[in-house]
Amino acid sequence: MENILIEKQDNIAVVTINRPTKLNALNKATIQELHDGFKALNEDKTVKAIIITGSGEKAFVAGADISEFANFSIAEGQQLAAEGQALLFDFVQNLSTPVIAAVNGFALGGGLELAMSCHFRIASTNAKMGLPEVTLGVIPGYGGTQRLAQLIGKGRAMELIMTAGMIDAETAKNYGLVNHVVAQEELLEFAKGIATKISNNSTVAIAKAIQAINANFEDGTNGYAVEIENFGACFGTEDFKEGTTAFLEKRRAIFPGK
Ligand code: COA
Repeated sequence: MENILIEKQDNIAVVTINRPTKLNALNKATIQELHDGFKALNEDKTVKAIIITGSGEKAFVAGADISEFANFSIAEGQQLAAEGQALLFDFVQNLSTPVIAAVNGFALGGGLELAMSCHFRIASTNAKMGLPEVTLGVIPGYGGTQRLAQLIGKGRAMELIMTAGMIDAETAKNYGLVNHVVAQEELLEFAKGIATKISNNSTVAIAKAIQAINANFEDGTNGYAVEIENFGACFGTEDFKEGTTAFLEKRRAIFPGK
């Protein structure tokens, strides 16, 4: 992998987008590497939570790589959005392993869209977030018009996208876009602390919960029906047997992840 780094420790993987001289802008190669990396980590049963961040102190990701699409036609533009959404943004949202975005600086355009595809977000105090695409004569194409409105509400999303404004970490927290704000030097350890809590729980149940929560945002899907089905499916798992047995035996559950 040329553009990303992956480190694994204690059931937690940290994916770092590593193009600091381009503020970690997402070019085609990086999107493909992220797809391959996330796919492999999701298949690795020793990995129970994934954190994604950007290298350097300035940016999480400053957007899609503008130099790659400046001369695109209408068809190429549509293809760029469709392929990107399938390979990375929808892919991450629907991953069965939890993904936490550790937003360590600018998260603009595709960078904020990537953070919003993650299951939740933590930001450092210096983080700045926005969808500035209309300043380039284009709109967000990696799910930003949908996920921003879901996360912060339609009116705020309309304003942020129309003005191409940037919000700071505290505002993002007030809006519900990020869950926590911490000093930059503490960001990764803080994210790892939450990932560790997650990793002690049933991975099978967590995967079912991700699917049920996401179902609320899918057209034509009844989230309550998905919840009923997934709730029932948990009763057939070894994790459920271990979880309930451990509770009744007054001991900590050691989940087999099956
Ligand atoms: N695509 C391609 N290259 C990018 C980029 C992007 N989205 N964002 C930053 N870069 C590159 C710059 O071109 C520059 O490269 P260079 O040194 O080869 O000229 C390098 O990263 C550093 O960026 P620079 O603009 O010099 O840093 P800055 O501190 O002055 O400004 C930003 C930081 C984030 C405000 C500014 O880089 C920016 O506005 N980026 C584009 C944001 C954007 O519109 N994203 C949405 C894309 S759809």
